[in-house]
Amino acid sequence: MPVLSLDQLIADYYDQNAYSQRLFKRAQEVLPGGNTRTGVFVNPFPVYADRGEGVYIDDVDGNRRLDFVNNATALILGHTHPAVSDALRERINSGTAFFGPTQLEIEWAELLRERVPSLEHLRFCSSGTESVGNALRVARAFTGREKIAKFEGAYHGIDDPALISYVPPVTSDLGPEDAPHSVVSSAGLAPATAENVIVLPFNNAPACEYLIRQHAEELACVIIDPLSTAAGMALPDSEFLTLLRSVTRELDILLIFDEIVSFRMTSGGTQAAYDITPDLTCLAKVIAGGTPAGAFGGRKDVMALYDPTSGSPAIPQSGTYNGNPLVAIAGLMTLKTMTPDAYRHIDSLTDYIANGLKEAFKSADIPATIVTAGSLFRIYFLDYAPVNYRQAARDSSEKHRWLYFYLLNHGIAIRQGGCVSLPMTTKHADDLINRVRKGLRVWPY
Ligand SMILES: Cc1ncc(COP(=O)(O)O)c(C=O)c1O
Repeated sequence: MPVLSLDQLIADYYDQNAYSQRLFKRAQEVLPGGNTRTGVFVNPFPVYADRGEGVYIDDVDGNRRLDFVNNATALILGHTHPAVSDALRERINSGTAFFGPTQLEIEWAELLRERVPSLEHLRFCSSGTESVGNALRVARAFTGREKIAKFEGAYHGIDDPALISYVPPVTSDLGPEDAPHSVVSSAGLAPATAENVIVLPFNNAPACEYLIRQHAEELACVIIDPLSTAAGMALPDSEFLTLLRSVTRELDILLIFDEIVSFRMTSGGTQAAYDITPDLTCLAKVIAGGTPAGAFGGRKDVMALYDPTSGSPAIPQSGTYNGNPLVAIAGLMTLKTMTPDAYRHIDSLTDYIANGLKEAFKSADIPATIVTAGSLFRIYFLDYAPVNYRQAARDSSEKHRWLYFYLLNHGIAIRQGGCVSLPMTTKHADDLINRVRKGLRVWPY
């Protein structure tokens, strides 16, 4: 069978998505580069969604695609799940926002604390970025120290410190593997941001311990996305996380788990899976059921800095939509729908997909590795599972680009991997596996 070049795939993509292409041209007149969310930009142009339904997205050209992206893992129930849509419809008729609390924010907080016991006290905000910004701020305020430590490659949203060493190009500028440099990943950061962020190498316990001890006097916190979801999906060694916990506790440095994506791993997040109790946790995406919200929280003594009952709090955290009833009801209904059985279903389907994909690559004699964590899966065109950002960065972006367009042209949306939503069944898993099998028959590499 003749191979299919990437150029041909992209030509087919143009043919399939003429209306999206026109919308992109129009968008360029009002949005820089036609874009308002960097992560969703696609070269040459993105597909414009029209509507979502269960496991599918219909686009403006009338194409229907099986969605393994689920808005960057946020939609654990897929699109327009009746539990969420019905509750939202009903809630909308009773008012969408008030200058004051509703009972829903308490119920949402209680349910989150039930699932994640380390959240002794928590607060709501409107995004993951805000959640991380608050966690870092309260860590500085609580410890009286200025610096934070994050892991090389990791993404924690777009606050200044988070944009140090965020998927940086792998060049000699990164410095030694065991003592990475702080690399500025965005223009316009506040002065001295890079000096105030210590960059740690993921999964390297001795180097992390050395760097944390070296900077202990000035370190407020260590923040980690435990599944390293943006920096590839390098899974953590359990001893590595245990070491991080013990060394930070010993030195009174707060350990922050950014579980904005990794919360998908179990009903209690990755901290439950690895039995680690962080001081603070950041949440967003799944907990808000497809609406824009975040939460952060943890130790009561730390979160007390937000308590206004004895006068102005040390940290004033306002936000017009914090704990808003619409996002609260969407979050509550999502969490309630995610029962232990629901988690078992999406996790076992993810294993099924991983096994099917492994088999497909193996029979095509194409080196690839599939990594899973709960309902998340990641494909690497490498013959090993990376353990850190630099290893993950060796993956082939061109092969991923080919697979992305091939699948998109054949009705399936993934990124370099994807995630499973509750309404998916083995039929949908087989659709992906069989389509990848077919694609590998015309694989040009
Ligand atoms: C691990 C992680 N932290 C933080 C964020 C930022 O969340 P948001 O996009 O809601 O601001 C993201 C978003 O993808 C994320 O993946």
